[in-house]
Amino acid sequence: MATENFIQSTSEIARISEDSAKLKIESKEFDLPVVKATCGPDGILISKLKNEAFVTLDPGFLTTAQCSSNITYIDGEQSILRYRGYPIQDLAEKSTFLEVAYLLIYGYLPTKEQRDSFIDDVNGRTLVGEDFRSFLGGFPRDAHPMALLSSSVAALGTFCSGTSSVHDLQAIEEATKNILAKTRTITSFLHRRRRNEPLLYPDYSRGYVDDFIRMCFAIPYERFESNPLLVDALDKLLILHADHEQNCSTTVVRITGSSNASLYSSVAAGICALSGPLHGGANEKALKQICEIREYIKEGKTIQDFVNMVKDNKQKLAGFGHRVYKSYDPRAAIAKEYAKKMYDAKIGDLDLFELAFELEEVVMEDDYFSSRHLYPNIDLWTGLIYKAMGFDPEMFTTIFALARIPGWIAHWREMHRDPLTKIGRPRQVYTGPVYNKYISVDERKL
Ligand code: CMC
Repeated sequence: MATENFIQSTSEIARISEDSAKLKIESKEFDLPVVKATCGPDGILISKLKNEAFVTLDPGFLTTAQCSSNITYIDGEQSILRYRGYPIQDLAEKSTFLEVAYLLIYGYLPTKEQRDSFIDDVNGRTLVGEDFRSFLGGFPRDAHPMALLSSSVAALGTFCSGTSSVHDLQAIEEATKNILAKTRTITSFLHRRRRNEPLLYPDYSRGYVDDFIRMCFAIPYERFESNPLLVDALDKLLILHADHEQNCSTTVVRITGSSNASLYSSVAAGICALSGPLHGGANEKALKQICEIREYIKEGKTIQDFVNMVKDNKQKLAGFGHRVYKSYDPRAAIAKEYAKKMYDAKIGDLDLFELAFELEEVVMEDDYFSSRHLYPNIDLWTGLIYKAMGFDPEMFTTIFALARIPGWIAHWREMHRDPLTKIGRPRQVYTGPVYNKYISVDERKL
């Protein structure tokens, strides 16, 4: 069962090869071990340099791997994204979000029995207690939902007593399913509170995504049938966002967890990191930008004029570019298909979809972007789709967070069973004053 699988062999996590790398600095020579990757670049283990008068400096971790991992593989040159070896295209076509969550967390595709029991377990935990609802009621309605979501997930641990231990496998299992289940309910509450609408209770008999949509949009006591296209589209977007190896928020989750902070606290920290406009917040920004383009066009200008203005001011076009993908983001290709499906079904603001399709064409033909290997990323499309579904832009990143929960949990659990894990504590190259003699306040001058 799942719990047993949690204690799997650690030998597959880091495989030290017989090769080594040589580093010569001044008169010192270092023989550095190489960790073999199954695909992608091998890693040079530099921990040996510590206390030897040298540290490595790599702002933004452009060339630094902070761990070895067997969860997700990305080849940014070839547009490849695989979870546990399975191509994202196959998972998006054939799987469902909770099955993918199982795959990421436990490392293998479940049998039908395992999958059904996992789904029942998660769906059966979606209720949050009345005290939690009162707690949530204390926040301002107009606060940004990402701030509320991170606070709520941190607080969730206090409402699920006995599940915060990082040493008790049963507690970790409980926390895993509580976070997956209850964050969905909390996200629907955040959506409704913003609109001053009554909060709905979960219906265990409905699917995870179907019931999320009902809890966001149904009128109390009225029969609600979700539009199957919206259920399918949201399920797929959740799969596409479910993991993305060592991105900013996942790194935060791993480093927070490395201090033995609980799963709840670590995921809450990840949500804070995701809220930034260069990461999860880009979908909200991308939609705002398309709305800006609409205004721009009303003034008689063109999309190309807008793109030129961005280039001239050395700004960043939201929804384009990626640290890892230097070719077309494979998630963006699938998300675009769903944008087209929504457009064909005439759901949402059709003019915004048309502008996004056109913006993509303009950018793809522009040398500035092609010479820098800047392609559309998934966030170009997700904001448009969420808006068409009826979500406010401020809610977009909360849906991204909901999707990323299986990935964060999988990484937290992997980090804990990796024998190489140490508390995350990077070094620095100090460039400040060497020594200052203290001056009393009366003697200080400007
Ligand atoms: N628009 C215009 N120019 C760009 C863009 C962009 N979106 N992204 C990068 N550039 C330029 C950048 O100015 C630099 O130009 P130069 O060489 O002349 O100085 C060059 O391309 C290299 O960029 P970089 O800043 O070194 O790239 P990075 O890997 O540090 O940044 C990024 C990656 C995603 C933060 C950046 O592309 C960006 O800010 N994009 C817009 C925000 C966005 O859409 N984020 C969502 C990413 S996908 C969701 C996720 O996985 O989190």
